[in-house]
Amino acid sequence: MRHLMSPLDFSVEELAELLDLALDIERDPSRYSQVCAGKKLATCFYEPSTRTRLSFEAAMLNLGGSILGFASADSSSAAKGESVSDTIRVISCYADICAIRHPKEGASLVASQKATIPVINAGDGGHQHPTQTLTDLLTIYSLKGHLDNLKIGLCGDLKFGRTVHSLIHALIRYPGIRFIMISPEELKIPSNLKEDALDPAHIAYAETDRLEDAIDDLDILYMTRVQRERFFNEEDYLRMKDFYILDKKKLAMAREDMLVMHPLPRVNEISVEVDDDPRAVYFKQAGYGVFVREALIIRLLQEAGANLSLPERSKGAESR
Ligand code: CP
Repeated sequence: MRHLMSPLDFSVEELAELLDLALDIERDPSRYSQVCAGKKLATCFYEPSTRTRLSFEAAMLNLGGSILGFASADSSSAAKGESVSDTIRVISCYADICAIRHPKEGASLVASQKATIPVINAGDGGHQHPTQTLTDLLTIYSLKGHLDNLKIGLCGDLKFGRTVHSLIHALIRYPGIRFIMISPEELKIPSNLKEDALDPAHIAYAETDRLEDAIDDLDILYMTRVQRERFFNEEDYLRMKDFYILDKKKLAMAREDMLVMHPLPRVNEISVEVDDDPRAVYFKQAGYGVFVREALIIRLLQEAGANLSLPERSKGAESR
């Protein structure tokens, strides 16, 4: 049984194939509208979500399948004390594939070990968020045309932001990737990420706390929210929350071809005045999340033995 716990669960070649499938779906979604007819996706969300849960559900509905699930721990039997292990054994009787979000790191891994259906990690604590990474990779691939030779500024909460952790793991497999880590001292990238991922891969990176010093020479600026729910102390959160605000004045220092990305939700870190700038692609990025999740559902169901009938790739679908 193939699951998705981390972006590294797919090889670079498998990722390229998945992104090409997602782009083919984007070109003409109607051709895929019955590919998963008769299949069911369960979304088990123990933590709040708008994009991830609803884009998974939209993805399965777009493929002609059905959805079931719960949107909070309180509305499931977790509120009565049921374990994730027991819940997934039951969900395996009801659905063909499951996406799970949980505040505890490793919860989706535990679920995958008891499941008899493919399990997708839809975010586990401050650890990983692999389907956000697939979304980010598809956005970059589609809008830049390549995933190599990019200088990427990661800005905000680099300590608790799981989207950043997953994105770093995914991007360091491509040649010519450089990072500028932009964060306050207290929210710097965890040292284990440097020691276990960046240093062994000989990835060039620099650290600064000043967005103004880094913004002028980036291919991508990846903004993140300060993760209030992961702070132990409200005072610390209030001190950090407005450390970075990307506004028109700061964006004026950036290159014309730089992309501004954000996994969303946004709080204050990007001023709404930036939304109409052609470089601001974060809402488009959220849209790509549906196509890549459609591709992922198809691939994992196929790997689990489902006999899905896929259309021929449309014209112009050859790999970049
Ligand atoms: N990007 C993201 O994970 O958003 P949600 O928390 O709304 O799912």
